[in-house]
Amino acid sequence: MGFWFWFWFMLFCASSKVSFSYPDGFLSLSCGGTNFVDSSNIKWVSDSDYVTIGNTAIVNFVEGTAYSQVPVRFFPNSPGRKCYSLPINVSSSVLVRAQFVYKNYDGLKAPPAFSVSLGTAISTTINLTSTDPWTEEFIWPVNKDSLPLCLQSIPGAGVPVISTLEVRPLPQGAYKTGLEGFPNKFLRKSHRINCGNNNGALRYPLDQYDRIWDADRDFSPFHVSTGFKRKSTVNLSSLKETPPAAVLQTARFLVRKEVLTYNLPLDTLGDYYIILYFAGILPVFPSFDILINGDVIRPNYTVKSSEASALFITRKGIKSLNITMKSIRFYPQINGIEVYEIVDIPSESSSTTVSALQVIQQSTGLDLGWQDDPCSPTPWDHIGCEGNLVTSLELSDINLRSISPTFGDLLDLKSLDLHNTSLSGEIQNLGGLLELEKMNLSFNQLTSFGFDLEDLINLQILDLQNNSLQGIVPDSLGELKELHLLNLENNKLQGTLPESMNRESLEVRTSGNLCLSFSLLTCNGDSRNHSYETPEVTIVTKKKHDVHNHLGVVLGAVGGAVLALFIVSLSVFLYTRRNKTEVTYTTRADTEMRNWNAAKLFSYKEIKAATNNFKEVIGRGSFGSVYLGKLQDGKLIAVKVRFDKSQIGADSFINEVSLLSQIRHQSLVSLEGFCHESKQQILVYEYLPGGSLANNLYGANSKRVTLSWVRRLKIAVDAAKGLDYLHNGSEPRIIHRDVKSSNILLDMEMNAKVCDFGLSKQVTQADATHVTTVVKGTAGYLDPEYYSTQQLTEKSDVYSFGVVLLELICGREPLCHSGTPDSFNLVLWAKPYLQAGAFEIVDDSLKGTFDTESMRKAALIASRSVEREAPRRPTIAEVLSELKEAYSIQLSYLASTGHVN
Ligand SMILES: *[C@@H]1O[C@H](CO)[C@@H](O)[C@H](O)[C@H]1NC(C)=O
Ligand SMILES: *[C@@H]1O[C@H](CO)[C@@H](O)[C@H](O)[C@H]1NC(C)=O
Ligand SMILES: *[C@@H]1O[C@H](CO)[C@@H](O)[C@H](O)[C@H]1NC(C)=O
Ligand SMILES: *[C@@H]1O[C@H](CO)[C@@H](O)[C@H](O)[C@H]1NC(C)=O
Repeated sequence: MGFWFWFWFMLFCASSKVSFSYPDGFLSLSCGGTNFVDSSNIKWVSDSDYVTIGNTAIVNFVEGTAYSQVPVRFFPNSPGRKCYSLPINVSSSVLVRAQFVYKNYDGLKAPPAFSVSLGTAISTTINLTSTDPWTEEFIWPVNKDSLPLCLQSIPGAGVPVISTLEVRPLPQGAYKTGLEGFPNKFLRKSHRINCGNNNGALRYPLDQYDRIWDADRDFSPFHVSTGFKRKSTVNLSSLKETPPAAVLQTARFLVRKEVLTYNLPLDTLGDYYIILYFAGILPVFPSFDILINGDVIRPNYTVKSSEASALFITRKGIKSLNITMKSIRFYPQINGIEVYEIVDIPSESSSTTVSALQVIQQSTGLDLGWQDDPCSPTPWDHIGCEGNLVTSLELSDINLRSISPTFGDLLDLKSLDLHNTSLSGEIQNLGGLLELEKMNLSFNQLTSFGFDLEDLINLQILDLQNNSLQGIVPDSLGELKELHLLNLENNKLQGTLPESMNRESLEVRTSGNLCLSFSLLTCNGDSRNHSYETPEVTIVTKKKHDVHNHLGVVLGAVGGAVLALFIVSLSVFLYTRRNKTEVTYTTRADTEMRNWNAAKLFSYKEIKAATNNFKEVIGRGSFGSVYLGKLQDGKLIAVKVRFDKSQIGADSFINEVSLLSQIRHQSLVSLEGFCHESKQQILVYEYLPGGSLANNLYGANSKRVTLSWVRRLKIAVDAAKGLDYLHNGSEPRIIHRDVKSSNILLDMEMNAKVCDFGLSKQVTQADATHVTTVVKGTAGYLDPEYYSTQQLTEKSDVYSFGVVLLELICGREPLCHSGTPDSFNLVLWAKPYLQAGAFEIVDDSLKGTFDTESMRKAALIASRSVEREAPRRPTIAEVLSELKEAYSIQLSYLASTGHVN
């Protein structure tokens, strides 16, 4: 069966690719349009699979005498690059042709200007005021399997717009001769001329590579020359460029005068690549000198009868081109001319840098628009480059929480600015940034200097003001010889500054600390008592001091006795009030607790006993730890103890418990009880012995027992049922907010249940379409639209669940920190493959065991779930029903092939 399976599988893949475009290897995108076949039998397809953004419109205009209707795609009011990802499936160079049409499609009579880049290279500026439509053609040396072509708006110059995009493979080895001295370049077409032809342009099918050869009437001295056409066979095999026979069969030659000249205008001052084609279509052997801009580049060039030849010429730094042929014998003649600008392709940034930045982007929970290469064609927002090195990074006013190890991979950084990014804990993971000169970590909650700073030997400016740094300033900071400004203002530091900092070249700012100076005398023992005398006081102490003063003034004015009485009564009032609040709160909690029939109220003592004094940790997270426990009746439980920091207000906790206790569903992990005592917030869940899906896919166990496709589908179906209940079955509706493979747990029978609604959000109004909230969730699973809008809907869960489905299909984690940047993000990497029905990315351990139709259904619903735009994603109910079908197809496949599991 294996052979036939693969046979049909391959056939399926092959046929789906062939139908995707033809002639073979041609890709023709109608931007904003639909699929059709043109008069040359070229199949055009809509561009919507190659670009994820932009709006579409139809332009009506008269071109020459013919009325045209042309679809366009435009990219309104958005900064950053708008990219097409062009798949390239050949090993030769490719021709990329783009046409830009404005023709007043928006009725504003304001043709835009914008720039176009290919890969890392800025290629040109399109200005539709001067020419409309505008066509650009490039020859790109292939080095990857996809090529980004991007439009970038120019501030104030209107909305970028594009009409068609074509990719054509070129013959092997073509357009390389003579360019050996120009590494890392691509070519931008200036001219391609079919000499001696007056009857319009020629292209496919006459040119099998679909190059467009223009008539030469605009450039050649008509009055003195003659076009000539002759159907004769010329030997083409010496020309790798394979110009079409139809081009070589026409020539322009001189009859009366001696000098044949072409004057070709060039767009810009630059380096140019010139190819001249000659074919012996006359029964004579004309000889002539060939001059470029006045220099003889080939004396006495002879065209032999029945043979084709070409000259490859490069010229540096020219801005106009004069090609002259001076007769020696018979007539000077030429058959074809191609002229290209030679454009630099900047080298890419290192893949370590790129993937580190991608991880950082994910961890910000924001869509920073960081795509492709960070430095070229233009640096990403928040990033500065020198060449292809990322030398500065500035992220502020976002929520990073900690300095993650990935920052340590940005080895070329000279400047790092992370002010106001909620960093807490230790300054860490930066020890490798030896080039760092400026670092700003101010306005965070950092508490410790850590040990990395001493390695930053080039550091000149270090800004740590307004953090919560505690203790003394380490000696090692003073050892940084280049340091000339150290800002430690408004921390909780105390003690003497290291003597090594006491130098002319270094300015240390210390105000707003407990007590910090070079001399012990100024501090002298307990700093708090003396802070009054020194200017370096903490805000807290200062406030106390102020209150005191204030009272003092009032005291003087009103008179002691009255005020004392007032103060006494005030404090009594405050005291009773506080007590009262506590009392009310307890009673409220008690009443509510009694109403919760489902969830049991545990005492801290009971929890301690059940977990054997918190002995066995079965999970850990930013929220705290999960412990295994056993109730007196023998039932196993998972006990989740909240960390100090993750604790929420008492009211929120009670709300949450009350909500969780109401949710009962076979596919949701149920809450058994809770404990809320002396600052403890503990949730008690049923224990599932099968571990999490993440564990089963990637944990130590996964190596021994791989989950079969049918099991994976069953797990997906179960989890989707759980989510469907949250979205549509429960009242109020609940959005989970942290769907991921480690939040899907398995029981003994491999039934899956969704757990951890710790972050979940209820939609209380039945008709609300979204709730606006602070972005929470896990990198790799976060809905990109939710990042940018902060509007949470059920579709955000669908996105995260789509990522889980991709994990099941591909058997890999959502973010992988090694490998190429292309494959780094599971969604970006897998989606195009799955949409094209290309299953080579399916988990290796599943290969040969799945029914293609079942996989196709799952792959399709997974790719739809991770659509960037939320409205294009299915509901979880739809996902569930597709998964059920995929599951039953796989079941019958297994039955028919006699497999179990
Ligand atoms: C893509 O490349 C593969 C292998 O090189 C080939 O089999 C397939 O026909 C190509 N497809 C297209 C559309 O060129
Ligand atoms: C586009 O061309 C027009 C006229 O040719 C010129 O006025 C305008 O400044 C150009 N726009 C840009 C952005 O270069
Ligand atoms: C065409 O030219 C090549 C090399 O220039 C030569 O090897 C080949 O024999 C020629 N073919 C014919 C049919 O003349
Ligand atoms: C919710 O469930 C009802 C009934 O099962 C169904 O008709 C409806 O389409 C579902 N809505 C969504 C958004 O899934």
